[in-house]
Amino acid sequence: MSDWKVSLYRPRIGSAEADAVAEVLSSGWLSNGPVTRRFEQAFAEASGTTDSVAVSNGTAALHLAFLALDLGPGDEVVLPSLSFVSAAAVVTLSGATPVFADITGAHDLCVDPADVAARITPRTKAIVAMHYGGYAADLPALAAVAREHGVPLVEDSAHAPATRSEHGVLGTVGDIGCYSFFATKNLATGEGGMVVARDPEVLERIRRLRSHALTVSAQDRHRGGPSVYDVDGFGLNYRPTEVGSAIGLVQLQDLPGRQRRREEIVRQYRAALADVEGIGIPFLDRAVEDSAHHLFPVLLAEGTERAAFQEHLAAAGVQSGVHYPPSHLFTAYRERFGYTEGHLPVTEAVMERQLSLPLYVDMSDADTALVVDAVRHAARATA
Ligand SMILES: Cc1ncc(COP(=O)(O)O)c(C=O)c1O
Repeated sequence: MSDWKVSLYRPRIGSAEADAVAEVLSSGWLSNGPVTRRFEQAFAEASGTTDSVAVSNGTAALHLAFLALDLGPGDEVVLPSLSFVSAAAVVTLSGATPVFADITGAHDLCVDPADVAARITPRTKAIVAMHYGGYAADLPALAAVAREHGVPLVEDSAHAPATRSEHGVLGTVGDIGCYSFFATKNLATGEGGMVVARDPEVLERIRRLRSHALTVSAQDRHRGGPSVYDVDGFGLNYRPTEVGSAIGLVQLQDLPGRQRRREEIVRQYRAALADVEGIGIPFLDRAVEDSAHHLFPVLLAEGTERAAFQEHLAAAGVQSGVHYPPSHLFTAYRERFGYTEGHLPVTEAVMERQLSLPLYVDMSDADTALVVDAVRHAARATA
């Protein structure tokens, strides 16, 4: 696909995934079915909760969460701008207004609970926390703000599947948790997602809305159930495939081992980059075990030209990425909601300096060393 020596991500797909997919392909049922149900139950168990709903992707998970909360015109949702744009997009598509909040600082790229609190209005219908790179947002503080104002807390836990943190398993602390299994994620089925919810009725609503709000599913009809159904809501087709769920089940079982390898790589990066002038590492006050390590973010020195830095890395065969361009400054959000530069000073200052380095389970120690050498060289060359 590319000739990077070390790419930013690479999913680990082995013979166990291939065998599980082959079994599904010969089963005679390819859409949401028994394998997906097993995946949902296994994911819930791994997350210390009772049930979950598998969906077609993480954006679908967020959209269903907002539909279940009856989000609509006139409502506002307070959420980080420093995130992938999908939560903001589905808030907007629901007819509501995304109210972007700032991050805590250069040491903690998650949303700042004090800034979230300052942006609550009588129209606020929900708060979204995102666990940046797999590091927990300040859930106790965010949950306290949500409680005080009587609004639900939605966790965008796309970076942290089945991840224990000091606050509890990420995604299960707030009211609704949403996960992504996109091709680059820690648990990567190609396209996929999952939803968990504190209230079983909300979860069942999400399950129904995932498949057109039909009272009898296609799977039930396939099994000989009633062929006439009713529709008790306005739903979508956000069903996962059995193929993706089969891959997900295999990867879920393997997740603890994969997680340990991510932690080893992060330990190596933290040690090797500690003395590199011009490179800051966020979240250094967090224990290595206390993150899903979806990303390894660094912050370049102020004034460093990031594109030039990335070109030096690319010349050494190392891919890098930016997570994320602030959502509030995208053209669509400027034009629709009037956001401008200066609205979120901490996010804007930090994000000009952010770069993500390669991080995936099959990176060898030699790959990590190659990245570190390339970073040292790029830092000297762009100082
Ligand atoms: C933080 C965050 N939220 C939501 C999503 C959306 O997930 P998906 O790509 O599966 O729709 C992603 C990933 O792409 C993400 O990183």
